[in-house]
Amino acid sequence: MVLGGTMGLHLAVRIAKLMNIELGDIEVKKFPDGETYIRVKSNVEGKNVIYINSLQRNPNDQVIETIYTLETLRDLGAEKVIAIIPYMAYARQDDRFNPGEAISIRILGKLFRSIKVDRIYTIDMHLHRIRDPREVFGEGFRNLTAVKELAKYVKKHYNLENTVVIGPDEESEQWAKIMAEELGVDFGVLEKRRITAEQVTIEAKGVNVKERDVVIVDDIISTGGTIEAAVKALGNLGARNIIVTCAHPLLVGNALPRLLKLNIVDLIGTDTVLSPISKVSVAPVLVEALKKDLKT
Ligand code: R5P
Repeated sequence: MVLGGTMGLHLAVRIAKLMNIELGDIEVKKFPDGETYIRVKSNVEGKNVIYINSLQRNPNDQVIETIYTLETLRDLGAEKVIAIIPYMAYARQDDRFNPGEAISIRILGKLFRSIKVDRIYTIDMHLHRIRDPREVFGEGFRNLTAVKELAKYVKKHYNLENTVVIGPDEESEQWAKIMAEELGVDFGVLEKRRITAEQVTIEAKGVNVKERDVVIVDDIISTGGTIEAAVKALGNLGARNIIVTCAHPLLVGNALPRLLKLNIVDLIGTDTVLSPISKVSVAPVLVEALKKDLKT
């Protein structure tokens, strides 16, 4: 059976169809004081249950909803509990950057480990200072990638010539490399410095984009500051057509209008997070991994 949380129902529906399995029902509501109420309405006893929820829009609420639901599924006698967290929140707070700060992703990892789910899948987690997320979430954790699906979309819709893939910062090299391999082109990364939560500066040293088509790839678009600065820097260097891709289009506040004002050909995200630019589904990537796992 597959079940979707508030931010995962769209993917649960897609996965139920693709795998031809039952779509279960959960009721989630808020008490007047803000507490979360969860009721698993389907009978999960003895079943292998897949639960999907992205920790986005209101990440703190989604963390509570997810943890409470997973624990309840165990409690109700599910045979196997598989969690899919397409967008993992708090991954960027992976260190103590200032004295006294919480290292949020490690705390979230401890919470997940306390429930003892059989498997946790995520998509393109922001891995920077923590290289192997199993260290935080346990051995059953799998970080899948949506970048190949994004590349397929780009290839299908655009006839790119003389193209280069660009990651807007150092840590995006991991995604730029995959995208470049899939498109059969070379890649480079820019140098980013964050000024505020909404503003960054970007330097484009050592990348040759003059009169070339560019595919930018990043894991997250949040406020749009990173992409805005990257597009402007590449434009100044003479880039021709710029296509922007990302795994998680959080698009907070006025990010979408901010990006639509830029001189870009397309803005493409996946459905780890539902947004107006979620043109690529991660359902096939998840189904492939699930099928392998459920066989064993
Ligand atoms: C951080 O380094 C991430 O990879 C993204 O580049 C970042 O989260 C994007 O945020 P924003 O859209 O607010 O610049």
